[in-house]
Amino acid sequence: MFPEHRPRRLRTTAAMRRLVSETTLRPRQLILPLFVAEDAREPRPIGSMPGVVQHTRDTLRRAAVEAVEAGVGGLMLFGVPAERDAVGGGATDADGILNVALRDLRSELGDATVLMADTCLDEFTDHGHCGVLDESGAVDNDATLERYAEMALAQAEAGAHMLGPSGMMDGQVGVIRRALDDAGYTDTGILAYSAKYASAFYGPFREAVDSQLTGDRNTYQQDPGNAREALREIELDIAEGADAVMVKPALAYLDVVKAAAEVSPVPVAAYNISGEYSMIEGAAANGWIDRERTILEVLTSIRRAGADLILTYWAAEAAAWLD
Ligand code: PBG
Repeated sequence: MFPEHRPRRLRTTAAMRRLVSETTLRPRQLILPLFVAEDAREPRPIGSMPGVVQHTRDTLRRAAVEAVEAGVGGLMLFGVPAERDAVGGGATDADGILNVALRDLRSELGDATVLMADTCLDEFTDHGHCGVLDESGAVDNDATLERYAEMALAQAEAGAHMLGPSGMMDGQVGVIRRALDDAGYTDTGILAYSAKYASAFYGPFREAVDSQLTGDRNTYQQDPGNAREALREIELDIAEGADAVMVKPALAYLDVVKAAAEVSPVPVAAYNISGEYSMIEGAAANGWIDRERTILEVLTSIRRAGADLILTYWAAEAAAWLD
């Protein structure tokens, strides 16, 4: 008899396929990134990310409640300030848009979700870099750490359950952990953007936060060709106190997600970023791919690679499908 081995036997019926399915994808594993703009009078569509908007404080509140009702595991908040300066003053101002919005959502939702915030200066600086600059115009790592510590305290005070340092400065997790502990915020967690690559896929995000960046982030974000340093960054962040680590972007870096999942003693997140979102939305809008099937396949792949958590702009919609 040939063939002797018939793997197709396990694919014969939907019930059989369900029985042997290895990878779970649940709403609670999805985290929804949200944008809130200081001067928005109504939600502003982001052209390069169809379906995603810069919220007003009001519409943000509604979108957050809807997402939580759909079952998402958490929310990741980004602020778009009306004005910017060299040191990103709006990030540490208690009345800055991100901190105000955090307060809104914490009072609306309490502990019903895990409220997270991007802990990074790029949305708030007039030069668009993730840190402050020295006289030569280079990003000053250690001066930036002081700003991150202040920003972390402002976000913790505003009610964030977890902070997401995403600036790729050396020592950022340690300095934030120490600042939080010294101020008594020992329960405020850190989801560290540990292995963050200098990626072209961030393109649409630049529009999402009205980024002022000229140039690139190559002196702080990782070279796409490197895998080893991702593991080093992850180890360092865990040693410095990260409660969870992240690989970003997701799709072009699933090998890194897998490597991280194999060694990490803390949960591993992957960020299915703006460019990954827009590629699929663009192709689907043209009728070139089946939108829902593609989205679920992408999210399943990221889980299969080993991510416990996925940040995705489809979180609320996918959660509703999965329910
Ligand atoms: C930095 C930050 C970025 C993203 C999340 N946090 C932009 C960057 O590093 O250039 C990108 C998210 C996305 O592209 O969806 N504050």
